[in-house]
Amino acid sequence: MADVGAEGLARLLESALDFKRDPGRYRSALAGKTVGLFFQKPSLRTWVSSTAATALLGAHPVPIQQEVSGVGEREDPADVARVLDRYLDALGMRVFEHSLLEQMADHMKAPVINLLSDREHPCQAVADLMTIAERRPLAGSVLAYVGDGNNVCHSLMLAGTMAGMRVRVGCPPGYRPDGSVVARAREWGEVSIFDDPAPAVRGAHAVYTDVWTSMGQEEESQQRLAAFTDYTVDSGLMELADPEGVFMHCLPAHRGEEVTAEVLESPRSVVFDQAENRLHSFAALLLNLLSA
Ligand code: CP
Ligand code: NVA
Repeated sequence: MADVGAEGLARLLESALDFKRDPGRYRSALAGKTVGLFFQKPSLRTWVSSTAATALLGAHPVPIQQEVSGVGEREDPADVARVLDRYLDALGMRVFEHSLLEQMADHMKAPVINLLSDREHPCQAVADLMTIAERRPLAGSVLAYVGDGNNVCHSLMLAGTMAGMRVRVGCPPGYRPDGSVVARAREWGEVSIFDDPAPAVRGAHAVYTDVWTSMGQEEESQQRLAAFTDYTVDSGLMELADPEGVFMHCLPAHRGEEVTAEVLESPRSVVFDQAENRLHSFAALLLNLLSA
């Protein structure tokens, strides 16, 4: 997320809102370009929205799956990167290890886009900020994140502070966000970390949560269920937020774990707007990276 920079993020959000208003204007904007979309993990939103956004801009999405390409198994990632660089104008990657993304980027001239790694989920954070920006100015707003200090939390802390938001995280002490990401976010703005959800959520304009067990952590799920029992976003917790505060989740959601069905289905929930905005914000990202 940090690679985009505060000005880059502002530009991206503006062009995402612009694309959403009139997608038809960009129908041939990237005609003749090819965008590789590589997945090591399951995906619904990211897979479909990145493929659709690529097509809506007149470019060609090229799906690349781990089982078929064998990156790091059948072939050295540095070799794969140099081969893909001969075919593609951009490469989006969803990976287990963030270091694979960096290794690929080191060996490609074409931009490599993080479609989720163990460290970050920046495309999600751009869509999330876009969703908030549709409702209120980002600067000065309070974004509360409750639960696991994971990839989604990391990108939100960075994007939020870059946009002038005040970010508060409420998480169990053993599951705090990575200290280096917190320090990086604090270079842009205010990040407060609490052991409990309530002080994080009080007066917040957006209350965000994500799954307690991310993809790749399935073996820890019992231990995580126990650690996060007091971190469910329920209507009692939402009452502490600003009266107009929204509920946010990147999805997929586990009702009864990180959020109650009542909150997820309530009028305060903007989760499907977030999901929709994945499409518009990815289109904006491609336009920013690949337009002449
Ligand atoms: N929010 C999100 O990234 O969803 P997928 O895992 O379905 O892509
Ligand atoms: N933190 C979750 C996000 C899924 C979109 C995961 O990494 O599985």
